[in-house]
Amino acid sequence: MAVTLGGKTLSLPILQGGMGIGISLDRLAGAVAAKGGMGTISTAACGFLEPDYRQDHQRANLRALDRQVRRAKELARGAGLVAVNAMVATAQYADSVRTALRAGVDAVVSGAGLPLQLPVIAAQVPDSTAALAPIVSSGRAAALICKAWDKRCARVPDFVVLEGPLAGGHLGFSPEQAQAGRPDVLERLLHEVREALAPFREKYRRDIPVFVAGGVENGGQMARLMKQGAAGAQFATQFIATEECDATQDYKDALIRARCEDAVIVKSPVGMPGRALRSPLVRRVEAGVQPGPEGCIGCLVPCKKLNSPYCISQALIAAWHGDWENGLFFCGANVGQVDAMSTVEKQMDQIIKEWRAAQ
Ligand SMILES: Cc1cc2nc3c(=O)[nH]c(=O)nc-3n(C[C@H](O)[C@H](O)[C@H](O)COP(=O)(O)O)c2cc1C
Repeated sequence: MAVTLGGKTLSLPILQGGMGIGISLDRLAGAVAAKGGMGTISTAACGFLEPDYRQDHQRANLRALDRQVRRAKELARGAGLVAVNAMVATAQYADSVRTALRAGVDAVVSGAGLPLQLPVIAAQVPDSTAALAPIVSSGRAAALICKAWDKRCARVPDFVVLEGPLAGGHLGFSPEQAQAGRPDVLERLLHEVREALAPFREKYRRDIPVFVAGGVENGGQMARLMKQGAAGAQFATQFIATEECDATQDYKDALIRARCEDAVIVKSPVGMPGRALRSPLVRRVEAGVQPGPEGCIGCLVPCKKLNSPYCISQALIAAWHGDWENGLFFCGANVGQVDAMSTVEKQMDQIIKEWRAAQ
């Protein structure tokens, strides 16, 4: 069942969510796309392994992003689509979007703030036919974004990712809502978002597919949500413990070892709550004994540098290196279900099998 996303066709309704820093790069995104889904490269500090990252991180990030998009597209061999996840909160947001579009990315998915400027930035690369999509966590945000895009650029999103409170990484909910999140919240939000999109679907006489994300456990649950109007689902945590995932084996092992109760809500220096494993860093922050960050490079616009107990980029990079003491290990609420190494092919086949069985 193919889905139309602007001018692009996605053969399977399965998205792999962007995961920063360094968890979803070209290898994972390319492998998911090669199976007919949409693989997503996270642009967040994606050049952190470049030799000149310390001297000129902005240049290193854009060079790495260009290479990663091209490589993921090669790996995809035209089967599925390659997207980038660009967070509005990043200082290099507009440059990252333009770089990815010039490199031929199929879609730009944008959250961690309202991506009101996304179509304006995309219009600066007129040759690109990439689909543009916001990540939202409420009908209100969906309506606000559609209104702004309609007014400024006479267009609407090509698709929308609806992220519920059980997702990993930064969350568009209060810490209490994130903590109390249950699977049925996603169903309620799906109705709310589809209602908010309805006037824009009518005005533009086209569908605006909504992909649900955050704690979608399997293809059966994806099928149930599709019966309620979702175009498909986005999965992230379950792609981490795969051979193809760009995380280190130490990161994958930390997730495999973790039980559901090890995932907690943390306060991120960007002012949003996030979900991560309760690592020693998180415990020190909770206890108020973590010394402040050192060596800020200004990578996130809303970061409360001086008042924050840690640097989120350094903590995510430490996690990538498998530094359990100092790392921030982002994960979704259903991390307890990840209990062994797998491959992208096996994960995709499993989701497709369960989805078809539940149709
Ligand atoms: C390790 C990790 C890192 C993430 N990083 C980002 C990110 O940089 N930007 C973003 O928009 N979402 C991020 N997310 C959210 C995912 O893209 C996705 O929407 C969500 O986790 C899906 O839920 P699931 O993990 O339960 O499948 C991250 C999630 C994880 C697990």
